[in-house]
Amino acid sequence: MTILIENIKKLVLTEEKPCKFVSGKAMSELNNIDDAWLLIRNGKIADFGSMNNMEKTNLLFKTEEVKVIDASGKLVFPSFVDSHTHLVYPASREIEYVDKIKGLSYEEIAKKGGGILNTARKMKEIPEEELYKQAMQRLDEIIAYGTGAVEIKSGYGLSTESELKMLRVIKRLKQDSPLTIRANFLGAHAVPAAYKGRQTEYVDKVINEMLPQVAEEGLADFVDVFCDKGFFTVEDTERILEAGQKYGLRGKIHANELDYSGGIQVGVKYNALSVDHLEYTGDAEIKVLKNSETMPTILPGAAFFLGMVYAPARKMIDAGLPVAMASDFNPGSAPSGNMQFILSMASIAYRLLPEEALYATTLNTAYAMGVSDKLGSITRGKIANVFITKKIPGIEFMPYAFGSNKVETVILNGEIVKRELC
Ligand code: NIG
Ligand code: FE
Repeated sequence: MTILIENIKKLVLTEEKPCKFVSGKAMSELNNIDDAWLLIRNGKIADFGSMNNMEKTNLLFKTEEVKVIDASGKLVFPSFVDSHTHLVYPASREIEYVDKIKGLSYEEIAKKGGGILNTARKMKEIPEEELYKQAMQRLDEIIAYGTGAVEIKSGYGLSTESELKMLRVIKRLKQDSPLTIRANFLGAHAVPAAYKGRQTEYVDKVINEMLPQVAEEGLADFVDVFCDKGFFTVEDTERILEAGQKYGLRGKIHANELDYSGGIQVGVKYNALSVDHLEYTGDAEIKVLKNSETMPTILPGAAFFLGMVYAPARKMIDAGLPVAMASDFNPGSAPSGNMQFILSMASIAYRLLPEEALYATTLNTAYAMGVSDKLGSITRGKIANVFITKKIPGIEFMPYAFGSNKVETVILNGEIVKRELC
């Protein structure tokens, strides 16, 4: 199908020369076109420009069927890219959250059915079909909020069988959903109950039993480790990243959420594509990240939900680093995949300018999931994943008006997504 969107009040984040990601000062310099048009053909962004010089006769082939959309008063954005989620899970954990408010301890919450290990227990029992159905509903929900690509992790299995079950569900979602999806193998999310006190043996199992099967079935694009205080050590992480490299799986690490864990350093050492969370990031970590190819990725939803300190995003950008921001959508620490909320958090809580917040949730997250050559900006030849807003005053309104859905029409792979989803 060919789609021509015309009279666009503002076409946001256009790129003439595509960048892999944007860092530092450049994050505040956004290219936009006022009073613009955008042409989408064969699932790709074909062309765009200003209404002043749109010659429809030159633009469109005589024989082609064209859907023309009038976007007067509306903005067009590249879809959000959510580079860190755990959205395949068997059940929500709202009781645990209420218990936290009541002051229950971690052990008490675990006993009552909270925590990663309890999600893992439910994961064992849930039929694959039900897991798939629930995850697909979550995908439909995030599409309606403007997400066009998402990374999904395993890590609630913690046994070979359950980890494979999760990853097979992600594989089916990849095939069936219009979203661009990447899978991340997070066998080392927590030490399962059966391996209590035998962490190294569990890491052996991740490396020698799980990874080979995951790789053989082609189920993962990346490998992840929760490298933090009370979870996996730098040594565990090194071993898993090294093993992943043998199978061509690049790392994306959970790092420095709970402490200065060394997770950022080990991620950079092994050329991880991203290090994520980063609440505990000091000068030493910033120095290591400079001139690396590892994307610092902050997860505002988790910090907000758990009441943690916020990662020093402003300081990182001012030091010249790129910053990405993703949802962390999961039942324990971030039960929302709404990237419009993440955009608002970026500005309101982390003091990013709207322009910086946009780069952080589109192009830079696209890099953090290995798709910035295909997605994350309005660039000729990229996949046509875009959304048209309702009538809004300008870009700044997007982070400012937190909590309401500003997205009106979603286009994925050059097709308008059905009304009932949006
Ligand atoms: O990214 N930090 C580690 N893991 C998840 C939380 C998982 C859970 O509590 O279920 C996160 O926030
Ligand atoms: Fe996470």
